[in-house]
Amino acid sequence: MTDDELIAAARAAALKAYAPYSGFSVGCAILSDDGQLVTGANLENACYRLGMCAEQSALTAAQHAFGLGKVARIAVAGGDGSGTELVGEQAVSPCGGCRQALLEAAQVGGRDLEILCASGDGQTVERHALSALIPHGFGPANLRDAE
Ligand code: THU
Repeated sequence: MTDDELIAAARAAALKAYAPYSGFSVGCAILSDDGQLVTGANLENACYRLGMCAEQSALTAAQHAFGLGKVARIAVAGGDGSGTELVGEQAVSPCGGCRQALLEAAQVGGRDLEILCASGDGQTVERHALSALIPHGFGPANLRDAE
């Protein structure tokens, strides 16, 4: 799967967002080592703080489809999803909580992960290593000294 196809999957997933409160639709596409694709979108809640981000929604799908250790490639896109396609010019990058959640998958898989961060229209794409998004992060590898 090409980068453009992975971004297209994230943009399509964003159209399934449930985001009546923010009006900001986010989609995330995750590809496994063996080519399985899962997606997720943000899921907001009337109790605002209970909303779930697209990345964590996609990670849950990845867990069930192939396991966190096989997460290989990730794309995220965000913007206005009220029409027939996602629009917006600003690349979205994972929030702090999602960086932490993605770090879990990276460390379970024993590797760094690249995140493709796309604008709603898919025209602006930034590439970031997860290690750059969450430097000196705390993950399962940091729990080695637990009893
Ligand atoms: N959101 C995500 O789904 N992922 C992110 O990394 C950033 C923010 C969602 C949460 C909320 O539903 C909306 O975008 C506005 O913050």
